[in-house]
Amino acid sequence: MSKVDVLLGLQWGDEGKGKIVDVLTPGYDVIARFQGGPNAGHTLEFNGIKHVLHIIPSGIFHEDKLNLIGNGVLIEPRIFKQEVEALQKRDVDATKNLYISKKAHLILPTHRLLDAANEQAKGNAKIGSTLKGIGPAYTDKIARSGLRVGDIMEFDFLEKYELLKVQHLQTAHTLKFDIAAFTIDGYTIDEYEKKWLESLETLKQFRLINSEYFINHCLDEGKKVLAEGAQGSMLDIDFGSYPFVTSSSTITAGVCTGLGVAPSRIGRVMGISKAYCTRVGAGPFPTELFDSTGTRLCEIGHEYGATTGRPRRCGWIDIPALRYACMLNGVTHLFVTKPDVMNDFDEVKMCMHYNINGEDTDEIPFEFNEVEIKPQLQSFPGWKQSLQGISEYSKLPKNLLNYLEAMEKATGVPVLAVSISPDRKDVLFKQ
Ligand code: GDP
Ligand code: IMO
Ligand code: MG
Repeated sequence: MSKVDVLLGLQWGDEGKGKIVDVLTPGYDVIARFQGGPNAGHTLEFNGIKHVLHIIPSGIFHEDKLNLIGNGVLIEPRIFKQEVEALQKRDVDATKNLYISKKAHLILPTHRLLDAANEQAKGNAKIGSTLKGIGPAYTDKIARSGLRVGDIMEFDFLEKYELLKVQHLQTAHTLKFDIAAFTIDGYTIDEYEKKWLESLETLKQFRLINSEYFINHCLDEGKKVLAEGAQGSMLDIDFGSYPFVTSSSTITAGVCTGLGVAPSRIGRVMGISKAYCTRVGAGPFPTELFDSTGTRLCEIGHEYGATTGRPRRCGWIDIPALRYACMLNGVTHLFVTKPDVMNDFDEVKMCMHYNINGEDTDEIPFEFNEVEIKPQLQSFPGWKQSLQGISEYSKLPKNLLNYLEAMEKATGVPVLAVSISPDRKDVLFKQ
């Protein structure tokens, strides 16, 4: 009997999860997404191609492996169809090795409309949502009024769809949202609805299953399963910088509810952190840099959202936040990505503690959004060299090894591997 290994982001998302899952896939039989939806943008690069996945797990390029979209995930059928077609262009036929949980919830066009309406209603306090309908679709799930993938096979699906749509339009109307002016990809809501309904046919071509049985049978047979997180721990609905969070459980606990596996069946928990820190959208970010160093991180690191194209906010690595994420997730191994972005830096800084109202603390305060946090920075000498061509962990520059060791010491978690370029081939395992 085997266990589910987990790979998830420890920061505010975009840590490089897609790339690392792709690298780890050869060691697994099944790759499963357990939460989130098309708000995610997971980038994979190999053989000179770059591909961004949103809903489909990052194991899809390995045709001998199974991929699963679990019950905790949200599916937007038209975005899903576009993803399937983009894969077809790369000669990947996802119908062969992608299974979908019948219990995964659907994002309706009007969920996306409501996402925009809610953001508009919040004014200056808006979250900076990806506008994919995540919040409203999870709201319906919890309110027990959502529609699930399995429902599309039922005779009364369209009836249920209409009922929910009308409710959404009423809410948008109450929020004084200009429905007629709203567009998705340049289409009005009515035009988009047609495309959305057509896209249901693509979904029907896939194996729609009771995935909780599937995954537990796989484990019983000794198959190796990797759960792929989306977003990051600091965007978790319970423990992130609420309300500037996403609407799902992005932490290890989410694997249990998002796939239907018991806590005792969780194995390794691999957490990813960039060597620095980024955030896209609104909300607290104690180590954010507003100077030329922040601009350099953004430019050299190509820190623009894989889903929305928005520039990501950049700053130094935040140890209190990282330690918090390691605690919540029970991280057993660390992956560190993108140190190469800081190759030319004279010094690299790490926030070891927060200072709030004159007192040092290692805790993320409840009033995270309100208080002024002064990051207590420690400086490390830069490594001032290119990492290109380095193929062994031990051959990394001494100053970078020192920096990685400081991360291990601060978190109490060993580094398993470091990634030094966007390409699949550039991941150096420590042993
Ligand atoms: P995800 O959402 O966690 O999968 O991450 P994203 O794909 O949104 O963002 C990570 C970005 O960094 C992508 O553009 C990757 O190609 C790139 N990337 C991943 N690892 C590395 C690395 O080690 N070095 C550099 N320079 N880029 C990397
Ligand atoms: P991956 O999987 C980075 C952010 C949004 C916004 C907040 C809420 O690529 O790491 P939502 O659309 O979920 O309601 O937005 O969460 N956000 C992400 N930031 N990476 C992501 O995914 C994100 N998914 C959502 O920018 O601040
Ligand atoms: Mg991303």
